[in-house]
Amino acid sequence: MSSVSSPPGPAEPEIIAIGCDHAGHGLKREILKLLHELKVPCVDLGCASPDESVHYPLYGKKVVDAVLARPHSRGILICGTGIGMSILANRFSGIRAALCHDMFSAMMCRRHNDANLLVMGGRVIGADLGKEIVRTWLTTPFDGGRHQERLDLLEQLAQEA
Ligand code: RB5
Repeated sequence: MSSVSSPPGPAEPEIIAIGCDHAGHGLKREILKLLHELKVPCVDLGCASPDESVHYPLYGKKVVDAVLARPHSRGILICGTGIGMSILANRFSGIRAALCHDMFSAMMCRRHNDANLLVMGGRVIGADLGKEIVRTWLTTPFDGGRHQERLDLLEQLAQEA
């Protein structure tokens, strides 16, 4: 099967949309500090506080919409486990969300899956590991080639379903 998508974009995103629910708020705050340190442009789409229980799909969808609306953007989503946000995000065509709690996954989801959305669980990992995962995911380029063919196939199968 030949590739039908455009060549890989730049290794690093031009802008990051970030969102969380109450359970991901603490880790999001730490990741925002890192993004500011790295001078990566970002937009925080809520939630605004850990004190009120909110519905993660509503905040996940805001980030999904932001990523789909802007080429060369990517997203970061954080809930308690990362699982709910992952399920939500991967329902939308054009989103490739990867739940990562280790460095190898953070690297490989870029190299092989061109993951444009990173998901983490704020109740699963600490801030230091979360920050290292974000650094790796931000800077690792997509390998393209046969992996692009597989991504094209994935989109095609979803369209046919
Ligand atoms: C909230 O309690 C929790 O269910 C949510 O953050 C997430 O872990 C869902 O998958």
